[in-house]
Amino acid sequence: MTSEEYRKEILRLKKEKNAVILGHYYQIEEIQALSDYVGDSLALAQEAQRTDADIIVFCGVHFMAETAKILNPSRKVLLPDVNASCSLAESCTGADLREFKKQYPGYMVVSYVNCSAEVKAESDLICTSGNAEKLINSLPSDQKIIFSPDKNLGGYINRQTGREMVLWNGVCTVHDALEAESILKLKQQNPDAPVIAHPECNAAVLAVSDFIGSTKAMLNYIAKSDKKRFIVVTEAGILYEMKKSNPDKEFITVSNEEGCSCAECSYMKMNTLEKLYKCLRDETPEITLSADMIERAAKPIVRMLDMSRELGIIK
Ligand code: 13P
Ligand code: SF4
Repeated sequence: MTSEEYRKEILRLKKEKNAVILGHYYQIEEIQALSDYVGDSLALAQEAQRTDADIIVFCGVHFMAETAKILNPSRKVLLPDVNASCSLAESCTGADLREFKKQYPGYMVVSYVNCSAEVKAESDLICTSGNAEKLINSLPSDQKIIFSPDKNLGGYINRQTGREMVLWNGVCTVHDALEAESILKLKQQNPDAPVIAHPECNAAVLAVSDFIGSTKAMLNYIAKSDKKRFIVVTEAGILYEMKKSNPDKEFITVSNEEGCSCAECSYMKMNTLEKLYKCLRDETPEITLSADMIERAAKPIVRMLDMSRELGIIK
């Protein structure tokens, strides 16, 4: 089938089955263009929670689809490629975190949403890159915290808030691989362009960045800025929305020696139009979790959403 044929069939099946397609900004362009909602992890979790569609097709990675299932368990949640994982989610299991916690009695566990349902079930509060700093700042200043699984995001929050959270040693292999040296070179070549980076990048990269934020926060920054050119330090999929919303602006990306974009998440790119079509047609792969796991993992996610509303981060 051609891309156009897949597109038409996906739209037909979506209507017939009362399904909603949620897509992350790092998905391939064709999927973003077809999605009912495209957003960052926080916005997509909210959409998943409030949708009344019978089927949620989550075009993102496994932990995102799990989060959708946890927030809206009566819906059927599908993920076009069930192997679409995440290096952060893989860096820490529920059992790992349970063991780790034993070394730190009295500590609260805050986990980045990029983790499995099991890790969420072991956590007291979940955060995303869109709300992490504000949520952590709102906790009592003497509250001791374990932050899992992203040491880069956790380190960034420690520097921003002056906290000394104990960090799990996980990284997003895509963002962590980006090097400050390449960014400094780009900065020299393009002195008019601010560097905008995702907080999953390593500390050296963040130190040379002008703006740090979630995918949505980067888009907001560009929309409001009077600058015309930007050095974008995150996964390449976001360029689709950046260019679409800002046709008059130019985006410079970090490339490796061979000149190809090294900031590509192979997990995010596992979902294709063909897999999306087959998943809607056959209603598989489906995300299933035990009722007990849903109940335990929901608590820290719902707490995150409630706190985010109270703090005015989301509506
Ligand atoms: P956000 O879109 O929430 O910034 O997340 C980035 C990411 O790496 C998702 O896997
Ligand atoms: Fe995980 Fe990084 Fe890929 Fe996001 S970009 S899904 S954090 S590996």
